[in-house]
Amino acid sequence: MADMTAPAARPANPRFSSGPCAKIPGYSLDLLSDAPLGRSHRAAVGKDKLKLAIDLTREILNVPADYRIGIVPGSDTGAVEMAMWSLLGARPVEMLAWESFGEGWVTDAVKQLKLDATVKKAPYGQIVDLATVDFDKDVVFTWNGTTSGVRVANGDAIPADRAGLTICDATSAAFAMDLPWDKLDVVTFSWQKVLGGEGAHGMLILSPRAVERLETHTPAWPMPKIFRMTKGGKLIEGIFLGETINTPSMLAVEDYLVALNWAKSIGGLPALVARAEANARTVWEFCAAHDWIANLAEDPATSSTTSVCLKFTDPRITDGAAFAKAVAKRLEKAGVALDVGAYRDAPPGLRIWCGSTVEQSDVAALMPWIDWAFRQEISALAAAA
Ligand SMILES: Cc1ncc(COP(=O)(O)O)c(C=O)c1O
Repeated sequence: MADMTAPAARPANPRFSSGPCAKIPGYSLDLLSDAPLGRSHRAAVGKDKLKLAIDLTREILNVPADYRIGIVPGSDTGAVEMAMWSLLGARPVEMLAWESFGEGWVTDAVKQLKLDATVKKAPYGQIVDLATVDFDKDVVFTWNGTTSGVRVANGDAIPADRAGLTICDATSAAFAMDLPWDKLDVVTFSWQKVLGGEGAHGMLILSPRAVERLETHTPAWPMPKIFRMTKGGKLIEGIFLGETINTPSMLAVEDYLVALNWAKSIGGLPALVARAEANARTVWEFCAAHDWIANLAEDPATSSTTSVCLKFTDPRITDGAAFAKAVAKRLEKAGVALDVGAYRDAPPGLRIWCGSTVEQSDVAALMPWIDWAFRQEISALAAAA
């Protein structure tokens, strides 16, 4: 009879959701007391906060001085759509996908914008070989596939002298992975991911070549006001200084500033990257030590360090989806892991967010609970047989 005793130690914070992600360590609503609530975002106090959010983003992510950074509506989705609608159509397009969000961008380019794009997809757990991609076309891709746990290893395959633009959804990568700015023309992310901020606003980062495209290309389709970044063929520079297109939540802005200041206080990007790597390594080592669970990502070089996706490999499991669901439910009921079921369109399993706001001690404390929940469910299967 297997030992069914529950582990003695519990994660201090059971929040392992892949978005919105865990708040920064020590978070409390009191940290937001400086939010200029009830004031106009166009007043100096509001504009200064928005500008500071842009400046700190640039500082922590090492964004080059000649790249624009804008705060835009609609979270990461808003930022990606804004980029695709504004920039695509000027030259041939390649759309790359290795999980559901990337597939969503493919659908939008092909079915909504009706672009005759070359589409390259990899199954869950694998990635498209970037060496096969024609970077003289515009290329849209996701740096880290949040629902498959597979990421781009580095930007080496992207030529510095490419003729096309690279448009990169980096929402579950920014602040946890190094992004090669010289290889990326558009980078988007949401505050609700690696820094544990709030939804609603997206970040849109543009290279000088992306700005040049904006100023020289008029899309063949109508552009809603919420997407418009140019006026009379010139970039609206104010958007990239904190003059947002429409009204932002100053509470969410304050929350992002708190997270940015925490990021700075712990040592900036290298510290953020190291925290995510240590968290992911804890899960990888657990997988290596148990033959019934494995990383969905097949190649360690492209294994995500934020959205770590796991599959159960025990041959006794007949209904993989039901089993994974039962394990996730058991962990949630025990109060040790919230929101760790695989994404609805992904293969069944668990997804453990290991981004920079998560404490390594909490990931380590969770691992024996996964072992416990697995054994409980296997024993339930045996009892039912
Ligand atoms: C890779 C990726 N792209 C886009 C999104 C959508 O982000 P948002 O809900 O912030 O618009 C997500 C959310 O999880 C994501 O993981």
